[in-house]
Amino acid sequence: MATNITWHPNLTYQERSELINQKGATIWLTGLSASGKSTIACALEQLLLKEKVTAYRLDGDNIRFGLNKDLGFSEKDRVENIRRIAEVSKLFADSCSIAVTSFISPYREDRDKARELHLNSNLKFIEVFVDVPLEVAEKRDPKGLYKKAREGVIKDFTGISAPYEAPIKPEIHIRTDLLSVEESALQIYNYLKEHNVL
Ligand code: PPS
Repeated sequence: MATNITWHPNLTYQERSELINQKGATIWLTGLSASGKSTIACALEQLLLKEKVTAYRLDGDNIRFGLNKDLGFSEKDRVENIRRIAEVSKLFADSCSIAVTSFISPYREDRDKARELHLNSNLKFIEVFVDVPLEVAEKRDPKGLYKKAREGVIKDFTGISAPYEAPIKPEIHIRTDLLSVEESALQIYNYLKEHNVL
């Protein structure tokens, strides 16, 4: 913990929001590997950008190439992964952008902490459960990771040899085996409209 540091106040959220005429929020997608998080996040980001809403996607795989390249998939590392993303997405929301995060974020406690971090700063946090039966995700297996996990080549794989704690009361619940990518993105977009985020 650093000492001798001072918080520098800046524009308030309200002042910034009025200046750029946009509200901020974090849309937190959670779900198994191959549930469709990244694909839906991409579609949603494009939908928002086309509507001239500043949005930016933070993606599990991508962030691990840079900011979180020091982290693996142990419980401790996943907790730290999500803690950092909670902080980063909060900055985006505070800047009056829409942060669209797509991380497995398997632990309920960590997602709840991310929510609390936002709510403590009066920032909107919208949890989206990208839900698909494990058998369907395993059948999709676009990166061949489930196969490797079953063979024991990959250890601690979510859903196979590491836990996934499904959300209990997410704001949005999407069944990606029943909806198309476009329908899923639109469901989130409509929620944002109905809840006065857009
Ligand atoms: S977590 O649990 O939130 O920290 O994971 P996340 O940062 O979202 O990274 C998930 C992506 O990493 C790849 N991958 C694994 N996933 C789960 N378990 C293990 N052991 C693992 N090893 C690598 C995989 O491509 C995940 O991407 P998605 O898009 O979820 O399939």
